[in-house]
Amino acid sequence: MDYQSALGSLFSPEGRHDPYPAYDVLRAHAPAFLAPDERWYVTTHALTTRLLRDPAVRLADSRDYDQFWPEWRQNRGVASVVLSMLQMNPPDHTRVRRAAAATFTARRIAAMRDVIAGQAEELIKAMPATADFMTSFAYPLPIGVICALLGVPDSDRAWFRQRAADLTVVLEPISTVDEMELADAAGRDLEDYFIGLIAERRRHPREDLTTALAASGDTLTGEEMLANLVLLLVAGFETTANLLGLGLHLLLGRPAEAERLRAHPDLAPAFVEEILRYDSPVQLTSRLTTEPLDLGDGLSVPAGAGLTMLLGSANRDPARYDDPHRFDPGRPNIQPVSFGGGAHYCLGAPLARLEAQVAFPLLLTMLPRLALTGVAERRDRLVLRGFSALPVTTG
Ligand code: HEM
Repeated sequence: MDYQSALGSLFSPEGRHDPYPAYDVLRAHAPAFLAPDERWYVTTHALTTRLLRDPAVRLADSRDYDQFWPEWRQNRGVASVVLSMLQMNPPDHTRVRRAAAATFTARRIAAMRDVIAGQAEELIKAMPATADFMTSFAYPLPIGVICALLGVPDSDRAWFRQRAADLTVVLEPISTVDEMELADAAGRDLEDYFIGLIAERRRHPREDLTTALAASGDTLTGEEMLANLVLLLVAGFETTANLLGLGLHLLLGRPAEAERLRAHPDLAPAFVEEILRYDSPVQLTSRLTTEPLDLGDGLSVPAGAGLTMLLGSANRDPARYDDPHRFDPGRPNIQPVSFGGGAHYCLGAPLARLEAQVAFPLLLTMLPRLALTGVAERRDRLVLRGFSALPVTTG
């Protein structure tokens, strides 16, 4: 396969289902290259980690959107992402991230361990003999956990899964008109939901994140508050559900590894890092250069260039990982780039890790005969990688 076919395959259903052979071709071609879509694709671990931290690299923010798509605010799905910290640059990013991080404290996350374990145990006990793991566990757990943090009532939880799936299509490089309409509707629904919840918490404050964010009116505009609540909710479970699905699929396909984790639950942190590396729930992220950059190897990128960083490729880079296509939780110093890096490093990484570290040992010990059955269906997405259906039997 030449590198142009490899790149093209990433935009086809087959390539999206298994992008790793294409990444190998692209990485062997160059650490970074200019593609026909006029974007620079970054393929290696070293260059990805460097560029994510480079002050001459920034996000496309609302000002850029004003220029290349003046109507973007009319699509509320797009607006909720563009107005969130995910698409901001300093000084706005610094201000908004600080306000959100102040509510999303290490103490608050660590205190969630028992809530996570309690919810996971209930879901496991309720799992039918033949189940779709995504519907019966992978989605409900992170939805329940982020809703508990945000203070969203139990009765409203089921409503969120479809809204989040509809909204996150705006992260994909290519989407249809119908998908964009669904994203708009989901954005409107979620904004309306949080307008109501913020008003309620201002009247009756509680010990939750919505109350804490609603009190940051002197640092955040109303629009920013809403966009970041929607981001926390959606980022809080779409990706984590995929981590749980991808991880379970890997473990059940490798009975010796599953047995090792069952016998040694203290290995869960290493297993979770290797799952994140081996099959990252987020496969790419994008940036713009603010000045010309020398990338080494005779490569120079002009100012204003679009960068696509292939996180999934960086995680399988043989220059960084021995035998990168082997799943090996025993490898030293894993440090995948699955949570990004630099100023936008995932705010929810400690929570996502904790959920997975608690969930996998519980699943393996409470359901010792848990096994894959039927056909696992991959989501047809490039950026957010995961399963739409993962049939299992509990034995
Ligand atoms: C940012 C991945 C779970 C909230 C990011 C970024 C990545 C990522 C790659 C950086 C994007 C970029 O630099 O362009 C993941 C993965 C997760 C996960 C793989 C699960 C396995 C979560 C959870 C939450 C969360 C549970 C919140 C409850 C956020 C937020 C940002 C972010 C708020 C934006 C940070 C900023 O722009 O400063 N995530 N995430 N994520 N994530 Fe996560």
